[in-house]
Amino acid sequence: MTAGLPPGPRSRLANTLRLVRDPLQHLPRWLATYGDPFRVPLLTGTVVITADPTSIRTLFTADPDSFDIYSARSLVPVLGAGSLILRSGPPHRSERRVLTPPFHGARMRAYGAAMAEVADLQLQRLRPGQPFTALALGQAISLDVIVRTVFGVDDDAQRHSFRAAVEAAMATTGPLLLFVPAFQRRLLGLGPFDRLLRAQDHLVALLRAQIAAVRPHAAERGDILSLLLQARHEDDTPMPEQDIIDELRTLLIAGHETTAIALAWALDHVHRDPAVLAQLRAELAPLGPSPAPEALAALPYLGAVCNETLRLHPVVLGVARQLRVPLELVGYMLPVGTAVLINIFLAHQREQTFQEPARFNPARFIGAAYSPYQYLPFGGGARRCIGAAFAQYELKVVLGTILARAELELRDLRPVRSVRRNLTMGPGNGIPMRLVRRRD
Ligand code: HEM
Repeated sequence: MTAGLPPGPRSRLANTLRLVRDPLQHLPRWLATYGDPFRVPLLTGTVVITADPTSIRTLFTADPDSFDIYSARSLVPVLGAGSLILRSGPPHRSERRVLTPPFHGARMRAYGAAMAEVADLQLQRLRPGQPFTALALGQAISLDVIVRTVFGVDDDAQRHSFRAAVEAAMATTGPLLLFVPAFQRRLLGLGPFDRLLRAQDHLVALLRAQIAAVRPHAAERGDILSLLLQARHEDDTPMPEQDIIDELRTLLIAGHETTAIALAWALDHVHRDPAVLAQLRAELAPLGPSPAPEALAALPYLGAVCNETLRLHPVVLGVARQLRVPLELVGYMLPVGTAVLINIFLAHQREQTFQEPARFNPARFIGAAYSPYQYLPFGGGARRCIGAAFAQYELKVVLGTILARAELELRDLRPVRSVRRNLTMGPGNGIPMRLVRRRD
């Protein structure tokens, strides 16, 4: 066994710029040069990167108390200090216990009707011939789905206020403000951080009012806010209101852009490859123009298209864990404090797991099972995405509803580059499309 870190590229500044600007080019190159795992010194510290299923298994099955969260504290202004994403150890476990049941796979049926209705409403806003981007369509749909099913907002005017507040909050955040604590300075109420805080305060005020409105009727309602208001910790105490607010903001940040980007990539691939579109249409045809959400969620090829989209374009490139105890990783004894990054993108590009990994081929998910250490768009272990079942259900219902209700086409057939957005990677051009016709 070797003590210390594996080999890797040297210059901290150059590595940081490469990883920020074009990770999809440099990660495969580093892997080919140094092998798995490799070490990348960055301006924020050194990370060890792996995409090897054996190492991923070691990390996902290790005692969760071996890890601390990695470099996320600068997210407090947008998530709130009580956020699940910012907790570790026993407080993380206890918060997950109350947050998990509302996202259980079996509960998704309750949200399917809202997901289909939202997709249909957004399509009705488009006129034939009208240009739009798949990303903007996905953002509008996924935001509306969260406002309805997570925040439980039923009223149209109120939905509008929430949408505006969320869009304002998003517009005030950028990578520098999110990741570099030095930029988080108030400037007499006039600087970018002041604007961010004002937008967040407004969103929090709306959430507080929504909690007050929903609380008396929570027992009769099925939205996630109502379920959280009724949830009890192990010692039978309810969730404090501030924790509920922080978790609602967390679910918004974690669930909005991610699902929108995945939907945009799915629409791109489906309309780029006529054989895929034909097979999907054949599968959808027996369900008619208004398919039931549950019927959509059960379609094997539609499910395979969504899985393959998240394989080829993992919206979150990788998940990081910081070691609180030394850990042996395929022959390396990594010291306390090492940050380990499980690279989802590289794991999904392994030839040993996926033949012709660069090709969009949904058939690879038909009748095949990949282990959670080979296919991991939602991360894994004790921190696996809590909204995975929700996102998968939403992708199938929304994509199925769009294809059943409308004919769309791409406006640009050139290959699309994946670029870094704040916490995620997404299509650089947003995927320009147009509505050909609605099928009413
Ligand atoms: C396609 C859509 C989505 C993708 C690709 C995705 C991916 C991820 C990934 C990779 C993680 C980190 C897991 C880890 O560290 O091992 C994560 C965490 C999380 N996701 Fe998602 N996500 C999606 C949608 C959603 C939705 C819809 C919600 C909720 C409405 C959500 C809520 C969360 C939360 C709360 C966490 C933090 C879990 C924790 O730290 O314990 N995500 N997600």
